[in-house]
Amino acid sequence: ILSLFTVRKFVKLSQGYFRSQAKSYGELNGHIEETYSGHTVVKVFNHQEKSYQVFEKINDDLYETAVKSQFISGIMMPVQFFFGNIAYIAIAVVGALLVLSNDPLLAIEVGIIKAFIQYTRQINQPIQQIGRIANVLQSTAAASERIFNLLKEEEETPERENLKKPNVVKGHVVFKDVHFGYLEGQEIIKGFSAEIKPGQKVAIVGPTGAGKTTIVNLLMRFYEIQKGSIEIDGIDIRDMSRSDVRSLFGMVLQDTWLFEGTVYENITYGSEHKTEEDVIKAAKLAQTHHFIESLSGGYQFELFEGGSNISAGQRQLLTISRAMLADKPMLILDEATSSVDTRTEVLIQHAMEALMKERTSFVIAHRLSTIRDADVI
Ligand SMILES: Nc1ncnc2c1ncn2[C@@H]1O[C@H](COP(=O)(O)OP(=O)(O)OP(=O)(O)O)[C@@H](O)[C@H]1O
Ligand SMILES: [Mg+2]
Repeated sequence: ILSLFTVRKFVKLSQGYFRSQAKSYGELNGHIEETYSGHTVVKVFNHQEKSYQVFEKINDDLYETAVKSQFISGIMMPVQFFFGNIAYIAIAVVGALLVLSNDPLLAIEVGIIKAFIQYTRQINQPIQQIGRIANVLQSTAAASERIFNLLKEEEETPERENLKKPNVVKGHVVFKDVHFGYLEGQEIIKGFSAEIKPGQKVAIVGPTGAGKTTIVNLLMRFYEIQKGSIEIDGIDIRDMSRSDVRSLFGMVLQDTWLFEGTVYENITYGSEHKTEEDVIKAAKLAQTHHFIESLSGGYQFELFEGGSNISAGQRQLLTISRAMLADKPMLILDEATSSVDTRTEVLIQHAMEALMKERTSFVIAHRLSTIRDADVI
């Protein structure tokens, strides 16, 4: 009983330490990841010493909690053994006294002492095992707490029933009194309405942080609107499946996304069935072909993760080629040419015009030249 009691006591005591150990461990990894990926900025702003101090502090916390939790769970076993051995001694002493006793009521045989020792061992062993497992269980519990926090996150709203899909996409898009905010009580889009006829070019302009990208996010159903509706060809986008909505749009995002692999693989991402001829045609249209040819290996040039071994403008050119190749009924360009030089931009615009003819397109741009010939602003 004493043994069981101590296990309980120790588990309670070390629980808090295990929890803060898991927390510090997470913090430490986060800090390392952050400073490693942003190490140029850290160096430019002479922040090495500060970063190092932050690391030291988190590491010290981790050290302290780890030592405490390991110490407490480490002494659990010896303490249990101690109680177990006390039980042996008690049985041996009491048993010996009883064997020697002259009173016929109390006298026992030596075999009974042996049996009792066996009994206590049988009881003690499982309790000791609980102690041993409690250790493992606790660090697991502390770690799983973080996983459960992730699982507790709100689910995507489920798709409606009887999903519809436009047969032939014309590209008639209607925003009706759309309200949306990322956070409760912080509305960013306040009653936005617009009608875009098939084939029109829409320019979305506004100051930084106004909500341009947000409108695109809503159109693609990355977020659900809180009030109002968005319709494509007369169908509310909430009546379509998310993947159907997204399959309607070719997209060039504000943040270019390239993965580790060849230039060719990156351009054909999402349209793997296209032929090499198509790929080269799309690259030529996007004014990217020439630059790709100049790379060693051309289309087989290996990009690093995030495309970090080519320039920002070149990354944009690749994502534009990707959208050109995907050849979707509608097009979204979010600052697609913001890092490209003006001469190339003009060339791309001409190519885009050919691509966007007959297609509804949404263009977000700060440069006036990009939006001059839009139908709706
Ligand atoms: N994931 C998010 N969670 C909470 N708020 C956000 C989130 N994304 C954007 N916001 C907020 O919404 C507002 C609009 O952001 P949005 O990205 O749409 O701006 P933008 O018009 O595209 O700006 P930019 O010209 O800089 O690209 C901003 O004020 C921003 O703080
Ligand atoms: Mg934006």
